[in-house]
Amino acid sequence: MPGGLLGIEPLERGEIESILDRATHFQRQQGERRKSDVARGRMMVNLFFEASTRTRTSFEIAAKRLGADTISITASGSSVDKGESLVDTLNTLGAMHPDAIVMRHSASGAPHFLARHLPTPIINAGDGTHEHPTQALLDARTILDRRPTLEGLRVAIIGDIVHSRVARSNMYLLSKFGAEIVLCGPASLVPAELAQITAGVTRTHDIREAIRDADVIMMLRVQLERQHESAFSASEYFQFYGLRLEHMDLAKPDAIVMHPGPINRGREISSEVADSQRSVILNQVENGIAVRMAVLERILSN
Ligand code: CP
Repeated sequence: MPGGLLGIEPLERGEIESILDRATHFQRQQGERRKSDVARGRMMVNLFFEASTRTRTSFEIAAKRLGADTISITASGSSVDKGESLVDTLNTLGAMHPDAIVMRHSASGAPHFLARHLPTPIINAGDGTHEHPTQALLDARTILDRRPTLEGLRVAIIGDIVHSRVARSNMYLLSKFGAEIVLCGPASLVPAELAQITAGVTRTHDIREAIRDADVIMMLRVQLERQHESAFSASEYFQFYGLRLEHMDLAKPDAIVMHPGPINRGREISSEVADSQRSVILNQVENGIAVRMAVLERILSN
């Protein structure tokens, strides 16, 4: 971990538990907006080659709350727009001696390349269709705020799973803790091999079957930017795979609805569900700060 965070897959269960425990400490401080100086004098660079609202902002808030200095670079508006290559961009940043780089890129493995190229700790903020580790950590924190354990929970992950780094990181994390994972979506977006990634995974194309007795319903955005063409219109997709109030009776009475955002109302989720008492979507956003403080503290205070 002090060397960075590239994915959930290589983490030990104990490392995950320790981050989640530390995040509860920062959750308690959240209301008071208390700042610490554990990372004072350290510099974190946010390097985003893809759009982001939640991840980029919460990393920046988290770093500032730990006392670090932050710089945000997005592809648009940087010299990438003028044709600078990834390697030259990385060498340029490396010459400024940051203490950590938070990176999002459309290519799976881009942060791993960066980690091999620079001595700086790299935190993966989403690489292509591969992993989004801090999203899975904040999702686990959000579930554990409402359940004593992940073990034995039935978690339905529904939507565009093949393109989802959020789904992959969650599958790695949830399976390490003994959750039962049900993948659901159209065959084109949930190919059979996805169910082989980790233990404890089954697959269905029937949203009702996926939701039946679920403790957690995790909806995913249809990633049109990663598809050459979509087989479904928004309304067709919503008809077969959109989460609606009528589905909620199938789940456990205290089931929660999650979504990493950004949500597309009327495509993967109805407004009635997204804005309901069952929805913890904004709690996920809030927990993003506490979890990223826990991750950054481990990296920047070393
Ligand atoms: N969940 C998530 O990664 O959201 P952003 O794309 O807004 O960062």
